[in-house]
Amino acid sequence: MAEGLFVAFEGGDGAGKSTQARALAATLEARGLEVVLTREPGGTPAAEAIREVVLTPAYSGLDPRAEALLYAASRAEHVASLVLPALQRGAVVITDRYIDSSIAYQGVGRGLGPDVVGEINLWATRSLLPDLTVLLDVEAGAGLARLSTEPDRLESEPEEFHATVVTAFRALAAGDPDRYLVLAAHGDVDAISTSVLARVDELLADRA
Ligand code: TYD
Repeated sequence: MAEGLFVAFEGGDGAGKSTQARALAATLEARGLEVVLTREPGGTPAAEAIREVVLTPAYSGLDPRAEALLYAASRAEHVASLVLPALQRGAVVITDRYIDSSIAYQGVGRGLGPDVVGEINLWATRSLLPDLTVLLDVEAGAGLARLSTEPDRLESEPEEFHATVVTAFRALAAGDPDRYLVLAAHGDVDAISTSVLARVDELLADRA
């Protein structure tokens, strides 16, 4: 059984997950905790190589099942070689995206089915779920407008695709309210960080 605390940030593109994940990591590190800040797809050299394949716009017609398996493969490697060992050491692991992204983007967005994508990913991760998933909730159009870099292969999908993804995230959170913290992503950045930290502190206190 893992000893550490596993926190995932999820949300549509442009929700500000990376900013919030960094802020939480910095606060906990300043307290002297061991923090592993990571991301998906990626997080280890092999998983980052898979990230290149799955996100490059060069493979615009990539088969949806291949896409789902690449994300799951990246996640399997990430969990086995980075996340689980860190949790076993007692670290706080903060990941920018996890299984819910596959359920929302591949299961619902691509129409593969949320259940089958969920099952593949539970197998890939030996059923490791976050202790807390923070959903930064943003309307699809607003999120896409906030992107500052060239769109990757998924970001290039039409707005309807992203709207479906946002709805899927909300349904996942509604189905398991104890494990999720849903925050409106358009709010003040510091206020969002404070809310996240309050929930993380409750979980850390439960473990102390
Ligand atoms: P992300 O790293 O959050 O993008 P960026 O760094 O550009 O903000 O995620 C990359 C893209 O991959 C994003 O559009 C969401 C998508 N994605 C999936 O479709 N399925 C998944 O399982 C994951 C982890 C990401």
